[in-house]
Amino acid sequence: MALSAIVVIADDGAIGKDNGLLCHLPADLKHFKSITMGHTIIMGRRTFESLPKGALPGRENIVVSRNADYRAEGAKVCTSIEQAVAEASMPGECFILGGAQLYASTIAQVDKLYLTAIHAHFDDADAYFPAINPEEWTEIDREDHQADEKNRYDYSFVTLKRK
Ligand SMILES: NC(=O)c1ccc[n+]([C@@H]2O[C@H](COP(=O)([O-])OP(=O)(O)OC[C@H]3O[C@@H](n4cnc5c(N)ncnc54)[C@H](OP(=O)(O)O)[C@@H]3O)[C@@H](O)[C@H]2O)c1
Repeated sequence: MALSAIVVIADDGAIGKDNGLLCHLPADLKHFKSITMGHTIIMGRRTFESLPKGALPGRENIVVSRNADYRAEGAKVCTSIEQAVAEASMPGECFILGGAQLYASTIAQVDKLYLTAIHAHFDDADAYFPAINPEEWTEIDREDHQADEKNRYDYSFVTLKRK
């Protein structure tokens, strides 16, 4: 099954630090919600535990953990990514939501990438998106935005489709 991935990524590929996001970008929260609402989202156990309010409403939340006893309120738990993909039951795209381990393990199966590119550098980042070969991807959508009073950094919403 073709998967989509959605990620907020700094110019150097950083995606997180201290098991949290790099920054708070309200415009991205809205964008993220509009893209993922009504779909299945698959995330690693560490990303699930980093969600401030737990499982995300209006989406089928699937958490992967190798610990078969792990329980995640409001989410289904699977012990492999393959099982998670097989159990995805919401219509349309199925999204890999991160984090670094999950992106690295699934990027080869990902057909569409929704990037929120933050045009900034973050010291102390400790989680990175896997390197992708730009020749394998076509940019099918792009919106560039300037920083404003609510969003501290310039950012772009970019959609890439595998060629
Ligand atoms: N910028 C963004 O858009 C974005 C999005 C999401 C996350 N993040 C950031 O990414 C960081 C977290 O990433 P991470 O790599 O540390 O953790 P992660 O990928 O969220 O979760 C890793 C955990 O998932 C489970 N897991 C991984 N591969 C598995 C497999 N093949 N089968 C079964 N279980 C598997 C394991 O859980 P167990 O240890 O329980 O076995 C593993 O410890 C945080 O900083 C977070 O904020 C950023």
